[in-house]
Amino acid sequence: MQLAGKTALITGGARGMGRVSAIELAKLGAQVIIVDWEGEAGTRTRDHINRLTGRKAADFVYCDLSSLNEVRVLAADVQARYPALHILMCNAGITDPVRRLSVDGWEMHLATCHLAHFLLTHLLLDLLKRSAPARIVSISSDAHKAGPGLDFDDLNNEKIWKGSEFSNGASFAAYHRAKLCNVYFTLELAGRLQGTGVTVNAVSPGYFVNTTIYRNLTGVFKWGSWLVFGLGSLLRLNTPEKGARTHVYVASSPDIEGVSGKYFAYCKEAQPSPLAQDAAIRQRLWAWTAQVTGVGG
Ligand SMILES: NC(=O)c1ccc[n+]([C@@H]2O[C@H](COP(=O)([O-])OP(=O)(O)OC[C@H]3O[C@@H](n4cnc5c(N)ncnc54)[C@H](OP(=O)(O)O)[C@@H]3O)[C@@H](O)[C@H]2O)c1
Repeated sequence: MQLAGKTALITGGARGMGRVSAIELAKLGAQVIIVDWEGEAGTRTRDHINRLTGRKAADFVYCDLSSLNEVRVLAADVQARYPALHILMCNAGITDPVRRLSVDGWEMHLATCHLAHFLLTHLLLDLLKRSAPARIVSISSDAHKAGPGLDFDDLNNEKIWKGSEFSNGASFAAYHRAKLCNVYFTLELAGRLQGTGVTVNAVSPGYFVNTTIYRNLTGVFKWGSWLVFGLGSLLRLNTPEKGARTHVYVASSPDIEGVSGKYFAYCKEAQPSPLAQDAAIRQRLWAWTAQVTGVGG
């Protein structure tokens, strides 16, 4: 029970690798807070964990993370109800070929993967610092390497949809940008948190992990992903349990106590793309995000 007495918050914890992470951290003794907008799946995961551990190890909190206001309400709720927070796992993510906007007008990949986690992390930073040693785990993807990077004239992902309402290609491009933002955020935040006892690292969980994240793709993309999922599942290569191993390792392993500002894949330190290590770009993104969210400036 290596995490007995520790509290962990997992965004997107109702399904997929967030769910597996919540289960594994609870099995290690942690109190887990599952945050998701999937109410039914979230309560099912909570109940499953409480049955499995034989204690009230899990809570579920509903939140649409793409809404900056809902993130503020979530942070206030967590601060009021939990005296400590030792692990913040920023895991929620989407891929969606339909260009959707959040209630604040931000494109959903950007809003969910980047803006929500930037804001939530800042609002919970004091609690994390008071609870130190504490860890922030930012779930990125090797998809951050699969594209040309950010376009500061198109951070809200308008141009990539080229005026159309639906595009599988645009969804991949928006996802690439969002996962790159996760790495920029991690590397910049690590520098700012030096000496606080709070570490932050990014994670790549692997490729085509068999979750429902790709369910909105269509046509050749849909059949392609089903083929990969089917083959991977037959060989047990891409299960959410395998994918979440690095989530859990970075959140809990004593081997990396104090390690910060790194990128992990397959439970080992790996290299983010050279583009992701560009300090000028990450500082520019940070300044823009601080302005949009009103924190971190
Ligand atoms: N699966 C992969 O192959 C893969 C590979 C590399 C990296 N990743 C990353 O790993 C993380 C977890 O992915 P996964 O495959 O486990 O995804 P998943 O199975 O789709 O689980 C993500 C959870 O987050 C929820 N969520 C999405 N948007 C939300 C919002 N605005 N507010 C609250 N909850 C929200 C999802 O709800 P809905 O289902 O309703 O959207 C879902 O319950 C993501 O950051 C993803 O980018 C995944």
